Amino acid sequence: MNSRHFLPMTPSTKFFAIVPAAGVGKRMQADRPKQYLELAGKTVIEHTLLRLLQADVFTAIAVAVSEEDPYWPDLAVSQHQLIITAPGGKERADSVLSGLKIIREQASDDDWVLVHDAARPCITAGDIHYLIDSLINDDVGGILALASPDTLKQVQGHAITGTLDRSHIWRALTPQMFRYGMLKAALEQSQGNPAITDDASALELQGLQPKIVEGRPDNIKITRPEDLALAQFYMEQQ
Ligand code: C5P
Repeated sequence: MNSRHFLPMTPSTKFFAIVPAAGVGKRMQADRPKQYLELAGKTVIEHTLLRLLQADVFTAIAVAVSEEDPYWPDLAVSQHQLIITAPGGKERADSVLSGLKIIREQASDDDWVLVHDAARPCITAGDIHYLIDSLINDDVGGILALASPDTLKQVQGHAITGTLDRSHIWRALTPQMFRYGMLKAALEQSQGNPAITDDASALELQGLQPKIVEGRPDNIKITRPEDLALAQFYMEQQ
């Protein structure tokens, strides 16, 4: 694992977090969106937000939730002074854009925004600090990512058509860290494009090259029912 230390930042630089939390999480096959499922005595999203708050770097955290969401207002954390609720959008990118708009008054174009999925509750303050530390002087920004432990195949239907060179393939995690102005412009210009499945891909479409920063493998996204038990195990180990 990388050595993790947090360098002091210039006093004028602000950091914001945006948490897209308006997905329904169909693959969980649960009675409620996956961010409201219980994990070690709290909901998934409470863990995620408490960890972002523990990082102690954010001026504000914008959480994008569906307007019909009955669960969010009942959570005490929704009333936290650093947390601002934004309306969720049709796609993840729309939810992120909505979060950016709600902090417009507080943020300048050069401030950093860290977008983090509500469904990644095992994020550590150490990884947040390491990401910031690694990218603070970068022109574009970048993302936490992981190399693939498996050999990766290209397929058509169920037939293998090639083996990818693993040294060039990384799995995109969150947080993804970009400057407010650059991220907002990139997301606005790519609205409605189905190829935009994370924030970095919107910047890539602009011809920019975000960096990867190696993250912890326990920063999993809750996607399938068995992921809850795995997340609980990782939390106990952390
Ligand atoms: O569905 P998936 O796991 O890729 O979603 C990643 C994150 O984006 C989740 O935290 C989910 O709540 C959020 N999301 C959103 N608005 C949407 C779709 C997904 O905020 N329309």
